[in-house]
Amino acid sequence: MRVITIFTILLFCFKISPGQQNSNYAYSVQKEIVSEKGAVVSAHTLASKAGLKMLEMGGNAVDAAIATQLALAVVYPGAGNIGGGGFMVAHLANGKNISLDYREKAPATASRDMYLDKNGDPQMDRSQYGHLAAGVPGTIAGLFASLKYAKLSFKKLIEPAIDLAENGFVISENQAASFNNARENFIKYNTSTPAFVKSNPWKAGDTLIQKDLAGTLKRIRDLGKKGFYQGKTAELIVAEMAKGGGIISLADLKNYEAKWRPVIDFSYKKNYRIITMPLPSSGGIILQQMLKMIEYRNIGAMKFQSPESVNLMTEVERRAFADRANFLGDPDFVHVPVKTLTDETYLKQRMLDFVPGKAGSSDSTKAGPIPESTETTHLSVIDSQGNMVSVTTTLNGSYGSKTVVSGGGFLLNNEMDDFSVKPGVPNMYGAVGNEKNAIAPDKRMLSSMTPTIVLKNDKPFLVAGTPGGTTIPTSVFQTIVNIIDFDMTPSDAVNKPKFHHQWLPDQVTLEKGFDENTKQALVAMGYKVNTISQIGRVEVILVKQKNNHKIFTSVADHRGDDDAQGF
Ligand code: DON
Repeated sequence: MRVITIFTILLFCFKISPGQQNSNYAYSVQKEIVSEKGAVVSAHTLASKAGLKMLEMGGNAVDAAIATQLALAVVYPGAGNIGGGGFMVAHLANGKNISLDYREKAPATASRDMYLDKNGDPQMDRSQYGHLAAGVPGTIAGLFASLKYAKLSFKKLIEPAIDLAENGFVISENQAASFNNARENFIKYNTSTPAFVKSNPWKAGDTLIQKDLAGTLKRIRDLGKKGFYQGKTAELIVAEMAKGGGIISLADLKNYEAKWRPVIDFSYKKNYRIITMPLPSSGGIILQQMLKMIEYRNIGAMKFQSPESVNLMTEVERRAFADRANFLGDPDFVHVPVKTLTDETYLKQRMLDFVPGKAGSSDSTKAGPIPESTETTHLSVIDSQGNMVSVTTTLNGSYGSKTVVSGGGFLLNNEMDDFSVKPGVPNMYGAVGNEKNAIAPDKRMLSSMTPTIVLKNDKPFLVAGTPGGTTIPTSVFQTIVNIIDFDMTPSDAVNKPKFHHQWLPDQVTLEKGFDENTKQALVAMGYKVNTISQIGRVEVILVKQKNNHKIFTSVADHRGDDDAQGF
């Protein structure tokens, strides 16, 4: 076995008190690793390590993905979760491609206009904060559904998470700042004080212990899915709802099911196949549209982040997002013309009005001409066998609804805001939608999450995904193009600044550090440009075949505490 750690940042190593688990209290963040037996990349070192431990114990990539998600629910509470939902895309060693939808759904008593006041005006604070913002959580159902492809027992997979919750772990500077920023909201949207609030400001090196969460995780360990969706945990959720005007009922929880969906599978250039998430995530369709709109243009020759390549990529992003806003929603509820939207002739037509060197306009670029129908529509893991798992999961906003289930110790999502609360009214990521993504009982809200796998000559090549709301599909798009077309190293592909266009608002958003000359060229083309500090946190594993064995280069985004482990 050959393991080369290319780049390690020593972030924190703290003094260990007697009785404390060494590894929870002294760890360093590793940004890149080259390994041969397996790899896990996630938002937190302790979660990546939990996954790696499963691989070392003989588990496969699915085992590692489950353990990593459970650990993230403890060590990365802003997004890791058991009170939210997610999507898994996997390429199994036997060649099968699978995708699992464990997106939250609207409670049975939810209704189309539930976030409008009596004048019909949207009250976004109610779809974004507190009890009423929460959809029925899907994560635990998803983890038990994916267990079908795992090798180890759930008891083993949940052990690291229970240990981290019960015995605590030290927090990083980023995490401390994040808790301090969210403090006011935690106080406002909770009736009892969550573990994330303490009297003095948090600082790097403080210990976070989550006893209530450990109790919930133990009930899940002992009772399985019922340990969350029925009995004490379910009762705690419903009791919490009663305290803050929430509407999730015992029946909503008992009835929640994760759904296996046929993957989106399409070719890119000659040798590549992209396997990604279908609806109710818009991410896969958007990714397919964008890659297919550039496929027949020689983007490689235009070079990374040149005015020409950014102009082209921005215009395909604009067109894909116009279609998202108009056509996409939960396919179990509304008709979505997926075949047409991803048809190559349709996508070529969408680009007929593209004038190189000139900014397009979202006023004139509407959704594609599809006849309206009256029918009604990230962690990266790999193992030695070549099983690849790509999972993106979320609470929606940072810390979701900010509401922690008292006694349960876990945060509830604010995923209801991903519905279109009123046609044309932007959600917290500025995404607009229409009736297709309107709220209805039991319906799943449209997502942008894009867990993706790329095969080269039908063999494992890349596992990729990211958080970032509407910037998710465009970040995954750019990462794939960076690697395949611009021939960049995985580290550059992940870490170089990104850009984003989502149709509305009609502007190109650039990430801090974006090339200044290209920025000026975009302004000269007529683009409205704004700059933000961060776009995406991409986790990739790139596979290279060498003398009959595979070498994995795993890269964790430098934008956060993200960490790559391998062996
Ligand atoms: O499903 C979605 O598209 C959003 N709820 C994702 C939110 C997200 O990525 C937040 N992270 N920055």
